[in-house]
Amino acid sequence: MNKIIAPSVLSANFLHLEKDIEMLNESKAEWIHFDVMDGINVPNISFGFPILKAIRKITTKFIDVHLMIEKPENYIEEFKKCGADGISIHIEGNHHIHSIISKIKTLGMKAGIVLNPGTPISSIKNIIQEIDLLLIMSVNPGFGGQKFIEGTYDRVKEAKELIKKYKTNTLLQIDGGIGLNNTKKLFELGADSLVSGSAVFKSENPKFTIEKMLE
Ligand code: DX5
Ligand code: ZN
Repeated sequence: MNKIIAPSVLSANFLHLEKDIEMLNESKAEWIHFDVMDGINVPNISFGFPILKAIRKITTKFIDVHLMIEKPENYIEEFKKCGADGISIHIEGNHHIHSIISKIKTLGMKAGIVLNPGTPISSIKNIIQEIDLLLIMSVNPGFGGQKFIEGTYDRVKEAKELIKKYKTNTLLQIDGGIGLNNTKKLFELGADSLVSGSAVFKSENPKFTIEKMLE
């Protein structure tokens, strides 16, 4: 399996978003991570459909949408129309997780489930066979630039074992506080995709930073 870096648009410079996406187009990052926050599900508001649509027009990279919103089931079709390739939803508070996952897949997108740092890994065991992506948060969602929670390493090991046990092709993704100091270890532990916002965009040479993360 390829190692995938997914730079998070949340840390891009919105005054020249086109330039930042073009930089990603030329980079070794295979995915673009798109964080949608509604101010209720998490204590922050980010961006939504118009920005996604605009990005879709200028990239062929896989757009990986991470929803931190109430009632995600109401917006799945619209995210598809605006250009999402994959959608991940949080397990916390979503009572109809199975039907939302089916909806995402029926529309031809990759479906993912996200776990906050306090949610047991075992909570996905009944649905692991249905999902394309398991996203483990390594910070409490809501903001870029937070510190990586060290306990994540054990959670990554546990998640990898669960994926092996159920023999699924589920990709394992980690999100939050990821930079050159922890990418190597996370890939070694079995992560397939690493989201990185500030460590990529705030670095002097983002393309080079992405390359280093893949070494
Ligand atoms: C946090 C978001 C992350 C964020 C990561 O709620 O889900 O994707 O953009 O940013 P960094 O890499 O700066 O922690
Ligand atoms: Zn995210």
